[in-house]
Amino acid sequence: MRIHNFEEYQKVYQYSIEHPEDFWNEIAQHFHWRKKWDKVLEWNFTEPRVKWFINGKLNITENCLDIPAQKHPDKIAFYFEPNDPNDLSYSITYKELLEKVCQLSNALKEIGVQKGDRVAIYMPMIPEAVIAMLACARIGAIHSVVFGGFSAQSLADRINDAECKVLITADGGKRGNKIVHLKQTADEALQQTHSIEHVLVLKHIGIEINIQQPRDIWWDDIVSKQSTYCEPEIMDSEDMLFILYTSGSTGKPKGVVHTTGGYMVYTAYTFLNVFQYDPEDIYWCTADVGWITGHSYIVYGPLINGATSVIFEGIPTYPDAGRFWAIVDKYKVTHFYTAPTAIRSLEAFGTDIIKQYSLESLKVLGSVGEPINEEAWEWYHKNIGKGKCPIVDTWWQTETGGILISPLAHITPLKPSYATLPLPGIQPIIVDEKGNELKGNNVEGNLCIKFPWPSIIRTTYGNHERCRQTYFSTYPNLYFTGDGCKRDADGYYRITGRVDDVINVSGHRIGTAEVEDAINQHPDIVESAMVGYPHPIKGQGIYAYVVPVRPIDDVKKLHKEINGLITKIIGPIAKADVIQVVSGLPKTRSGKIMRRILRKIAEGETSNLGDTTTLLDPSIVEEIKQGKFKSQM
Ligand code: PRX
Repeated sequence: MRIHNFEEYQKVYQYSIEHPEDFWNEIAQHFHWRKKWDKVLEWNFTEPRVKWFINGKLNITENCLDIPAQKHPDKIAFYFEPNDPNDLSYSITYKELLEKVCQLSNALKEIGVQKGDRVAIYMPMIPEAVIAMLACARIGAIHSVVFGGFSAQSLADRINDAECKVLITADGGKRGNKIVHLKQTADEALQQTHSIEHVLVLKHIGIEINIQQPRDIWWDDIVSKQSTYCEPEIMDSEDMLFILYTSGSTGKPKGVVHTTGGYMVYTAYTFLNVFQYDPEDIYWCTADVGWITGHSYIVYGPLINGATSVIFEGIPTYPDAGRFWAIVDKYKVTHFYTAPTAIRSLEAFGTDIIKQYSLESLKVLGSVGEPINEEAWEWYHKNIGKGKCPIVDTWWQTETGGILISPLAHITPLKPSYATLPLPGIQPIIVDEKGNELKGNNVEGNLCIKFPWPSIIRTTYGNHERCRQTYFSTYPNLYFTGDGCKRDADGYYRITGRVDDVINVSGHRIGTAEVEDAINQHPDIVESAMVGYPHPIKGQGIYAYVVPVRPIDDVKKLHKEINGLITKIIGPIAKADVIQVVSGLPKTRSGKIMRRILRKIAEGETSNLGDTTTLLDPSIVEEIKQGKFKSQM
């Protein structure tokens, strides 16, 4: 499966696009299936309908756990580094991980979880979060992980959308010097849900919580008495593995569905090749399992490759801004994978702190989640990689399941801020607004993919039409990514950012409609419009224009109230950086908000606003430009 040099990459790539089915047929042989597939692929992008490894039977956890545990039972699967450096750090071997997963699997069965049931997971970033995901997969239940920073409302919406039967959570978690009250938030969420029969609660930090019997069950009480083996449920290749909610340009977040066989093959193949992982390496991805990066490149990809990884509960700046580097030295991390926002925030602390650490073990650096600007790329390369570690700038999405465009470490010649070249099996195409393909090099437009890969989104949970409309209707017969992109003279790809109403704040995807809905719930606000603007650390910040019911005297106070509301409805990641009070929004005669104008003003541009003659009331633009009633936090 492994590609060794650039020439080989070029050959494999060519073969993979000329003979995609043969290519994936060969790759899929490397995994453990209970029954081989009858046919590699069936697809069309109109319904859409994509099926990989048809009639193949397997359980992904046999590939993640049983196989590595047979080969090397005592190899460490995870090192756990707690939030507080003085708390207990520990490691878990493959054999131990298999046993722990089996025990939880048996516990879930005991409380009635069956194949096909949905289980919500709302946990801190600790090994038990991974164990919970794998236990679901072991028994054929579908996990829906909800990031621990989301609000009660967001958790309730996700539970309700998938009608989850069980919730797995913890008393609380620690992030820096803050405590996250997970169970308390879950209790609030559960007041608005009807499908949850049981809540499994892990005692993690030992805070006082409410236990409502018989609904709530302590993890230790039920798990410790279980057998350490659980027969895996045999799944069809196209059985659902998980749902993961993500924001789009309209409406509430949608549940992206990934299935078993294709997702397994693709995440394992890309982990091995992008990172060029060797068996003795120590890999650390700083993401949270609440996001797709955590699913594919903390849990499934690394485990299937029998890798040793670090799991870190805390944040980069606690107890100080050297924490990441202390962890790299402590575990002799060879592969370090993080988001540009983390790099930029640590850059702001200067290089003296870095000099206290050797960072000698590092071989490969990774970047994910948002475009990495050239300056941050150079800083990362020089100060962390000491000029000798390649940076794999990995472009992909929740919907793609795995990395689609990225250098292969130590193989692909790099270019700062370029995700470089497509991985084998990936056929990107750049189109203009009308959907015409922009052929050749030196072109810029919207990024689409014209052929399926094994871990492509299959549907949006409970609403297939939404999947079709969002990704497969803009351009016929193409998967539309929502990203803009350039292909340069060398055929290298550079992702320029979203072209829809989604913004990327600190690597987190936020939909404008969601934030506006939250802001509009403020009793003093009639309507609002949110746009992204360039932010030195977060990549993009949130700039909201709000129209009040009556004149506002204290904009700062309103800003605080609005952020309180956003935190309550969505979570603190969606708080507005800037609030500007305006008497109206620039709308066309048909009532559409002209966000283009609002974006330019938020970026500080007051001339060159383009054509404003189609506006219902062009004078409103003059008022907004003056920016009189503004608060920035
Ligand atoms: O805009 C792209 C950006 O993040 C979006 C996907 O977000 P999400 O589904 O939350 O997944 C993030 C982790 C894979 C994309 O549409 N994005 C992700 N990686 C990159 C990126 N933009 C530029 N360069 C990247 N390497």
